[in-house]
Amino acid sequence: MKLWGGRFTKPTNQLVDEYTASINFDKKLAKYDIQGSLAHVEMLKECRIIPATDADQITEGLHTVLLKIESGEAELSEEHEDIHMNVEKLLIEEVGAVGGKLHTGRSRNDQVALDMRLYLREQLIEIIQLVVSVQQSLHTQAKLNLDTVMPGYTHLQRAQPVLFGHHMMAYVFMFQRDVERLTDSWKRVNKSPLGAGALAGTTFPIDRQFVAEKLGFDGICENSLDAVSDRDFVVEFLSNASLISTHLSRLCEELVQWSSAEFSFIELDDAFSTGSSMMPQKKNPDVAELVRGKTGRVFGHLVGMLTTLKGLPLAYNKDMQEDKEGMFDTVETLKGALGLFAPMIETMQVKKENMYEAVRKDFSNATDLADYLVEKGMPFRESHAVVGQVVLHCINGNKYLLDLTLKEFKSFSETIESDIFEKLNPEAVVNARDVAGGTARNRVEEQIEKAVELFQSSSEWVRKHGENI
Ligand code: ARG
Repeated sequence: MKLWGGRFTKPTNQLVDEYTASINFDKKLAKYDIQGSLAHVEMLKECRIIPATDADQITEGLHTVLLKIESGEAELSEEHEDIHMNVEKLLIEEVGAVGGKLHTGRSRNDQVALDMRLYLREQLIEIIQLVVSVQQSLHTQAKLNLDTVMPGYTHLQRAQPVLFGHHMMAYVFMFQRDVERLTDSWKRVNKSPLGAGALAGTTFPIDRQFVAEKLGFDGICENSLDAVSDRDFVVEFLSNASLISTHLSRLCEELVQWSSAEFSFIELDDAFSTGSSMMPQKKNPDVAELVRGKTGRVFGHLVGMLTTLKGLPLAYNKDMQEDKEGMFDTVETLKGALGLFAPMIETMQVKKENMYEAVRKDFSNATDLADYLVEKGMPFRESHAVVGQVVLHCINGNKYLLDLTLKEFKSFSETIESDIFEKLNPEAVVNARDVAGGTARNRVEEQIEKAVELFQSSSEWVRKHGENI
């Protein structure tokens, strides 16, 4: 007999049971479901909605049910559809009919919304910590590479030299926005929907604030219809996860390129690379490729959830059961990628010589020659054209700017003096970008210092919010 079987005259078709059941994936919520039920039953007792002795029996029973689920002893069945009804069924088996009082003043609709929020906020803490650990690994590489000059690119064409440390710090600040988005989303996740009932509230004199406080929520969802039909927090998480995946994927693409023979700028540690079953010489950046590849499923879950929600009338609809698998998969995918990334970045070997060689054999100091002429009084547009001629001359002679003699330089502009050689050397070119946020060594050091403060405030946030849940 189903928990809701009263008004039915025959058993559910087995295919319907199988099709509508969510227990195979929402069993992940068992811990949170019971956490919520424990707070709910305490409130029922506090508000004298059920007798204290009944409440105490239920509390004890819920603890036992949790132990039995976690040890695998309890049998979860599709016949009872989802984690909520399976837990209730197990509770009744444990403590008898009194277990049936747990669901007083509550519906699965507010219950499932609660479980999802409890699950997500715990995951948010972990994911934020993982993003910070990726930031820290990039930060470590930045500190080690304050003298490493590499070509900076636009259009994947060598543009102007930058410090590899500067490049690493670009990702640190990129991931900082992810941390900020995740911490900001907290205030929308950490609200209690419990007490909304099926959709309209409940006739029992419940205390929603009591439950919210017990569970470490910052407040309650203000409108019962919104409380049970809101999955914006899921969409928001999937969207934040999509951006994090995008950021990881961009970095992956660089790692893949840099570790190719054509670039040969880095070598990933053997522990974070894989081989080929056929070609003995191969060392592949599989982790970076797979993280880049898994971006697809994360985006897919975001689009899937938006699509599921877009035509739903208020309040709860069974469609919303589709909120779970995508979110769980996104959490696992993201945690897997972030967990691998920090040690992969930290252990990668940076081939400074090759980067330097790449800078020496290109024209990425051409802007500096143009700026030099500007300092001598030439309008930039004119100096741009002159340097274009110089570059062409070099290309025809198979040379780079630093291979030219002073006489050759002077044939393009009399104003050029011997100090040009110093100005065009890669370190000078880098250090000339001495503006806030620029690639000059001291400016990259400023970024590195700033990031230390950011990491401290992230850790502080995690400590403060993690201890209440
Ligand atoms: N398994 C359902 C879900 O995940 C729980 C809520 C079901 N409520 C209902 N009235 N059918 O959404």
